[in-house]
Amino acid sequence: MSATISGFSKLSKSEKIDWIVRHYLSNSKSAKQTITQYFNADQKLQQLHDEFIENTITNYYLPLGVAPNFVINNKTYAIPMAIEESSVVAAASNAAKFWMQRGGFKAKVLSTTKIGQVHFVFTGNFEDLKQYFNTIKSKLITDTKPITANMEKRGGGIIDIELRDKTEDLEHYYQLHATFETLDAMGANFINSCLEQFAKTFKTEADKYLSAPIEIVMSILSNYVPNCLVRAEVSCKVEDLKDKTISGIAFAEKFVRAVNIAEIEPYRAVTHNKGIMNGIDAVVLATGNDFRAVEAGVHAYAVKNGKYSSLTHAKIEEGVFTFWIEIPLALGTVGGLTGLHPLVKVALDILGKPSAKELMQIVAVAGLAQNFAALRSLTTTGIQEGHMKMHLMNILNQFNATHEEKEEIIQHFKTHTVTHSAVVSEIEKLRQ
Ligand code: MEV
Repeated sequence: MSATISGFSKLSKSEKIDWIVRHYLSNSKSAKQTITQYFNADQKLQQLHDEFIENTITNYYLPLGVAPNFVINNKTYAIPMAIEESSVVAAASNAAKFWMQRGGFKAKVLSTTKIGQVHFVFTGNFEDLKQYFNTIKSKLITDTKPITANMEKRGGGIIDIELRDKTEDLEHYYQLHATFETLDAMGANFINSCLEQFAKTFKTEADKYLSAPIEIVMSILSNYVPNCLVRAEVSCKVEDLKDKTISGIAFAEKFVRAVNIAEIEPYRAVTHNKGIMNGIDAVVLATGNDFRAVEAGVHAYAVKNGKYSSLTHAKIEEGVFTFWIEIPLALGTVGGLTGLHPLVKVALDILGKPSAKELMQIVAVAGLAQNFAALRSLTTTGIQEGHMKMHLMNILNQFNATHEEKEEIIQHFKTHTVTHSAVVSEIEKLRQ
């Protein structure tokens, strides 16, 4: 089954669904029912979601959970998380509780600037280009005033524009490399609008000053934001790490060793950082931020020294265990989806309407907490025990277990190891 179509976006929603069902879904009746059962009864709310993107056919649900008991800089938060992976919210909650009893998390924003670039080609003399840039630089900035006025009133705007010669790497290639402060906005639209204006002014005025033309290739912000950086950490006396099964020092040493492995071994570092992103993406998504931008920037940062490495670090010094993360996070608490998606507004309200800086701290802490929980399980019980306990419900749902069946099976697995086959055989036993 397949087909092509022109003018798909012009069809009504129900025509789009009919077309897709007819051409791509063999079990058309049940597929259509599945698609339509996710419609929201509130027409206005549904329309709002329909209009976020083009060609919407229905809504795609993810659970929105909350991990309570996060103490960050002595303030208590319940952190909203949008994520499908069974164990993530539980792990965050466990780590939050663990550190709540040991002084909580400390977080600090180290820097907040973002970068955008106008990429262009110039075949003339570099000295002439440099002179032209110095002459035109202030006009580049004044021509963007209609775009920057509001941001400047609040204390942000364009910080600087540099001319960068990249011709050693690529023939005739130069950049206008600009730095921005976008305060509580993620700032993508603001930065891109400024850049497009720089490009326009830069090209138009060039005819008056240069013998060779400027050819603009593109103008776009960078999602690599190593100067929009936040640090979060936890620390406590080594002996305070002890629990029922392991001494404080044994735990701390194993934990630090596990982090050291992720620092030097890329295969492990990717999985280690994936666990961190479980926490980060979930909060980024719940608060209406762009998780793809965050992912791209964070992973670029993880390879900043030329080899992919851990985003977290840990040490034991003079009897004190310290575990920390330093990551770039370009986040917004105004603009974008933040004022549009009703659940995003609720998520930001749960967090007490944070500024972008405060949200950077919360998100970094969510990543650190997630990594702590993962490493704690990995270096003690192994990951599957907790993971499979949380996954049990998914298996039961796959088998359409009734409420009574679920209760009985959950009870059984309180004292037995959860594996897929063990759960299936319990279900079968019950149903015989
Ligand atoms: C699973 O989603 C995440 C972990 O693999 C992270 C890790 O290995 O550190 C448990």
